[in-house]
Amino acid sequence: MNTKPSKTPLISCSSLRKTFGSKKQKIVALDDISISLSGGGLTLLMGPSGSGKSSMISCLGGLQKPDGGHVYAFGEDLWSRRPRKINKFRREHCGFVFQSVGLFPALSAIEQIMLPLKYLGWNKKAARISAQNALEEVGLGDRQFSRPSEMSGGQNQRVAIARMLAKTPQLIFCDEPTSALDGENGKRIAELLKEAARKHNAMVMCVTHDERLLPYADRVIQIDDGVVISDTESGISV
Ligand SMILES: Nc1ncnc2c1ncn2[C@@H]1O[C@H](COP(=O)(O)OP(=O)(O)O)[C@@H](O)[C@H]1O
Ligand SMILES: [Mg+2]
Repeated sequence: MNTKPSKTPLISCSSLRKTFGSKKQKIVALDDISISLSGGGLTLLMGPSGSGKSSMISCLGGLQKPDGGHVYAFGEDLWSRRPRKINKFRREHCGFVFQSVGLFPALSAIEQIMLPLKYLGWNKKAARISAQNALEEVGLGDRQFSRPSEMSGGQNQRVAIARMLAKTPQLIFCDEPTSALDGENGKRIAELLKEAARKHNAMVMCVTHDERLLPYADRVIQIDDGVVISDTESGISV
């Protein structure tokens, strides 16, 4: 049993269920999952291909509606809200980083970061300052004006992380962010995610196959066939 004092979760789910396909051929991606996630730590979500990791992230992050159960974000039932409110929640509070970095080829690093901030209604000056700070945070303060073709895969993934961090989201979801990177760059990304969790008291959930990231994890959740098979926090079963 975990004897640590329980922290208020930023996000949790109860009896979460997600299925795909028809009645005849039903695929159960998430099967009755209940977990709570608090801020300040890096949680790795691990499991074989097809075990439900991406489905989990999209149901928790407001991207994909579950078929059953509840997601509570900041204590409120996320999927009972109207779609417009869910979109607002996602834009304001969630940050996503995926394996495919998704940068615009023609934009410089600082422009990549400022663009979504402007879309969120930030003024140009505030967006520029936040983008500069985020680039500093990921160690690319001197690459503001570089375009994706002028940087390495690891540097571009750091730009994507800076873009995600610039609006200081409280809920950060990463889906295999290091799988296209070599070991050293992968570790760098894990360090940045852990630092972001600590510094901003954010919840960071990171899907990975990469066992080299394990030393950076505060918690490791293993899923298989849509079911949590182990959940350990600093070596203690949760
Ligand atoms: N859009 C979809 N349509 C049909 N089946 C899907 C879809 N997305 C995921 N699945 C299925 O759900 C299961 C879990 O998928 P996913 O969450 O992507 O797993 P993981 O990220 O662990 O590889 C798999 O069997 C997958 O084929
Ligand atoms: Mg996946």
